[in-house]
Amino acid sequence: MDAITAITQRVSVAQLTGPGPSQQQLEQLYCAAFRAPDHAWMRPWRYLTIRGSGLETLGQVFAEAGLKKDADLTEEKIAKLKSMPKRAPLMIVAIANIQENSKVPALEQRLAVGAGIQNILTAAYAMGLGAIWRTGEMVSDDSVKVSLGLQDNEEILGFIYVGHVNCKLKKPPVLAINDYVQEWPYIDSF
Ligand SMILES: Cc1cc2nc3c(=O)[nH]c(=O)nc-3n(C[C@H](O)[C@H](O)[C@H](O)COP(=O)(O)O)c2cc1C
Repeated sequence: MDAITAITQRVSVAQLTGPGPSQQQLEQLYCAAFRAPDHAWMRPWRYLTIRGSGLETLGQVFAEAGLKKDADLTEEKIAKLKSMPKRAPLMIVAIANIQENSKVPALEQRLAVGAGIQNILTAAYAMGLGAIWRTGEMVSDDSVKVSLGLQDNEEILGFIYVGHVNCKLKKPPVLAINDYVQEWPYIDSF
């Protein structure tokens, strides 16, 4: 698949199944992430690969985090939290490792990680895999961050679910250029 097709036709895929990406595919996904634009080459990112029993353990961590916030959580909600990470055979946790830099503010570092995540999604699509970027309340939960070994300067920017497509791919919407793009200086219409 050529690059422009991958970039313009990529869609997120929520229904994913096994097998997960091969080791070679996984390495390509990370190589794609590492080509994100990155002011001063700070590499303000860190990624965790979670699969197999790790997904089970993460589900447990999510459930415990939920119960810490609300001890009266229903069995249904607990079960949902436990099964959340198992929506794909593999999860990539995208972490921003924010560093002090007089020229590169934290926002730019977060944007670099976001660009890396986008590269992962596009590369996955180009390889015939499915992927989706999710966040939700667990990204900012302190006990989840501790369980995943995050340092004080680190933030979870996304849980990227990756696997094989288990549904019909949706059609990417076609947006009208003029709805979002203007020539400047603005043309005076009066
Ligand atoms: C920062 C960020 C967080 C997101 N979090 C979620 C999420 O928690 N759950 C979800 O279903 N979609 C989430 N999305 C949206 C999906 O990743 C996806 O972009 C959306 O379903 C639109 O599909 P498309 O990428 O095919 O256009 C998030 C997107 C971004 C950029």
